[in-house]
Amino acid sequence: MRYRTAVKDDLDRLLGCVVDESISWSHPERLLSFLESGNYRLDRVWLAEDESSGEIMARAVWWGFPGGSEPLALDCLYVHPSVPDRVGLAAELLRRAHAVYGRAIDYHVFVSNGWREDPRASAAIAWRWEAARRAGLNEELERLRYEWTEGEAPVPEPSDRLVFAGDDDDETFVDAFRRVAVGTLDHHTRQALRTMDPVAQARQDVADNKEMPGDRAWWRLAYDKAGDLVGVALPSANNGGPVVGYVGVVPEQRGHGYADDLLAEITRFHAGRGVRRIVADTDAGNVPMARAFERAGYRNFAIRLVLSADPVNT
Ligand SMILES: CC(C)(COP(=O)(O)OP(=O)(O)OC[C@H]1O[C@@H](n2cnc3c(N)ncnc32)[C@H](O)[C@@H]1OP(=O)(O)O)[C@@H](O)C(=O)NCCC(=O)NCCS
Repeated sequence: MRYRTAVKDDLDRLLGCVVDESISWSHPERLLSFLESGNYRLDRVWLAEDESSGEIMARAVWWGFPGGSEPLALDCLYVHPSVPDRVGLAAELLRRAHAVYGRAIDYHVFVSNGWREDPRASAAIAWRWEAARRAGLNEELERLRYEWTEGEAPVPEPSDRLVFAGDDDDETFVDAFRRVAVGTLDHHTRQALRTMDPVAQARQDVADNKEMPGDRAWWRLAYDKAGDLVGVALPSANNGGPVVGYVGVVPEQRGHGYADDLLAEITRFHAGRGVRRIVADTDAGNVPMARAFERAGYRNFAIRLVLSADPVNT
């Protein structure tokens, strides 16, 4: 078996790799459009190729921001149906790529609600999880995907107890993100805080949010009538369209339902510029946030599963 990154001449064979399991994958249309946009790059598509037949026996595709210095997520893992040890082959492919990347990169998979009860979806996840685990991705997270759709959910009224303001100074947002991260139930932030200083972590969050296709000028800080900071509300966008980028309430203001006001501001903002569908994700364990989405008429339409490496032991 030969392990290598893809080149232009591989394109036809890459398009011939078909995943017919009930999970998200890099289907031909996605592959072509993301190669075009720069979210995929051929040198971030890894292949295991049969040396005698030249056939692609396994393929792993990483996603990143166009022009970004490193891939941010493993988006698709395919193994040819004839391979007897698909877990072993996939694990080896991932290990080789991780060695070149210098770390194990998170693996994101989208599945339908109720995937655990669906034998096809759970089988598709099971072998991939085992392969990813063998390649160092051993922490599992389930995120709920929500959508707000024009006509099906209301456009909220403006908050009568908070005032929203933009701020051009990134450091103001860094400070707000740092405060909001205290006591968070968000897995990603909690993990980052195990290895990073809170200011560095907040700075990273601000930088990551700035990388998104949404407009930085949309970001809002929320204040109560006394002028004290309540939190942050970031309308944003990703490749798929408008999203709730981030909602956060500082610890001393939690428990007053302000998450509803912040989310309402984001929904109102997007709706006001003609958006018809807004997507959002939150960890299944972040119950206050999930409830806020449900109260605001967001519908849980899918699940995002994320496997990552323990930041302390890698
Ligand atoms: C999620 C979050 C925005 C909720 O804000 P909030 O305005 O306090 O939400 P609510 O007032 O609706 O809270 C509902 C309940 O959850 C509790 N709660 C809220 N956040 C909590 C937290 N981080 N830890 C434990 N309990 C929390 C509240 O105290 C309240 O409890 P009660 O019903 O017993 O009074 C806030 O916790 C936060 O900013 N977390 C960090 C950032 C984050 O996770 N953002 C979402 C990322 S998608």
